[in-house]
Amino acid sequence: MGTQRTQLDDITGKTALVTGAAGSIGAAITRFLAEDGVRVAAVDMDLGKLQEVTGAFEGDVSPYVMDVSKEAEVAAVMKQVRADLGDIDILVNVAGILSNNKLMETSAEEWHKIHAVNLDGPFFLSKEVLPAMQQAGWGRIVNIASYAWKSGGKTSGTAYSSSKAAIVGLTFAVAKQAAEFGVTVNGIAPAYVMSPMVTEQLSEEQRQKMMAEIPVRRFSEPEEIANCVRFLASTMSAFITGEIIDMNGGFQFD
Ligand SMILES: NC(=O)c1ccc[n+]([C@@H]2O[C@H](COP(=O)([O-])OP(=O)(O)OC[C@H]3O[C@@H](n4cnc5c(N)ncnc54)[C@H](O)[C@@H]3O)[C@@H](O)[C@H]2O)c1
Repeated sequence: MGTQRTQLDDITGKTALVTGAAGSIGAAITRFLAEDGVRVAAVDMDLGKLQEVTGAFEGDVSPYVMDVSKEAEVAAVMKQVRADLGDIDILVNVAGILSNNKLMETSAEEWHKIHAVNLDGPFFLSKEVLPAMQQAGWGRIVNIASYAWKSGGKTSGTAYSSSKAAIVGLTFAVAKQAAEFGVTVNGIAPAYVMSPMVTEQLSEEQRQKMMAEIPVRRFSEPEEIANCVRFLASTMSAFITGEIIDMNGGFQFD
């Protein structure tokens, strides 16, 4: 008998942890997963924004405050999450910070801060969730990288591009060791999602220039990233691992 047509709701009843859940992309992912019947631990360092965003959603969403860049804090909050919700089946690393400074303007302090959030966070959390996923024989890790990982940063800076290239390396490395246990590890590399990163941190001139360069002539919506996460979290994508899905409106084909 061949493989059956898979329903996208096959993740109903699973437990997910989404970081950066109070942000534009993380909130959309949290909402869509919760609407799929996934129990979601919504993690962010901004409690006020987190409560505001998650309070508006239907479904089983529990907010947790965590600074993903701090190993001891990650360990302590994860202990609480496991006590409340059990093991995590789906980890989505979204929390990230942007800097537009190029090499000579980047201080060592900024370099370390960007890498601490964008790279150390996913590293700590992957270590927290992988053993139980491997034991269960099923798990999904989705890392939100950025087009900057391979573009060198159109408007974004050196530390940001480096941190996003590094999360791609982390994705490949964990995918390789986890594959035989039924755990897939993939990434998404978006470019210009409608969010404060685009609406506030780019000038109008930069926005217009970018829009003209994007073949689809628009920015992406956070919900489009969330739909891609749903696919990568589902059984439909079970044979895909160590893949970085470009969501850049045709900026670069490869
Ligand atoms: N918006 C874009 O155009 C774009 C493009 C490519 C990649 N990305 C990536 O997508 C992800 C989400 O971006 P967004 O546009 O939703 O940004 P956002 O600023 O709206 O959301 C980021 C969230 O992460 C949280 N956060 C920051 N540092 C944290 C920490 N140390 N611990 C826990 N939470 C922390 C913030 O409080 C915020 O709620 C980021 O990793 C970003 O690099 C965004």
